[in-house]
Amino acid sequence: MLTKPELSPESERARDVCSRHGNRPDELIEILHELQDELGYVPESVIPVIAKTINLSRAEVHGVVTFYHDFRREPAGRHVVKICRAESCQSMAGEALCSHAKASLKAGFGETTADGAVTLEAVYCLGNCALSPAMMVDGQLHGRVDARRFDEIMSETLSEAAQ
Ligand code: FES
Repeated sequence: MLTKPELSPESERARDVCSRHGNRPDELIEILHELQDELGYVPESVIPVIAKTINLSRAEVHGVVTFYHDFRREPAGRHVVKICRAESCQSMAGEALCSHAKASLKAGFGETTADGAVTLEAVYCLGNCALSPAMMVDGQLHGRVDARRFDEIMSETLSEAAQ
């Protein structure tokens, strides 16, 4: 007798999330956000599962996952640093902050440091424009961040984690 191939735990989660959204194709972005909240990223392997469950093509789901910066395609590091690259922050030396962060972490946007400690992500407005340039570390917002402040925040973040 043929048995049904088992779904991976990630695929099971994807199907559950789709089901919570009524398997509706117009809920795709919400589904992807919820899945990322649960798994920490959107694995490549769940794309066909989502596509089949909500009746879209793989290309459509893949297109959304790759188009939006919000969706991570690899597991994140232990800390997530988001630096704002939108206009207000750009006009307040945001690019210098970005360059410093990349050099200091030895990771580009969308990448994780070699030790798995930090994932660096670009975001487009953190709603903190009055205190540009802004960044967020593990969900905590920081304003008027220059290179020196970046180093302080990272040193605090990494030393807290080591305790
Ligand atoms: S533009 Fe950077 S926080 Fe709004």
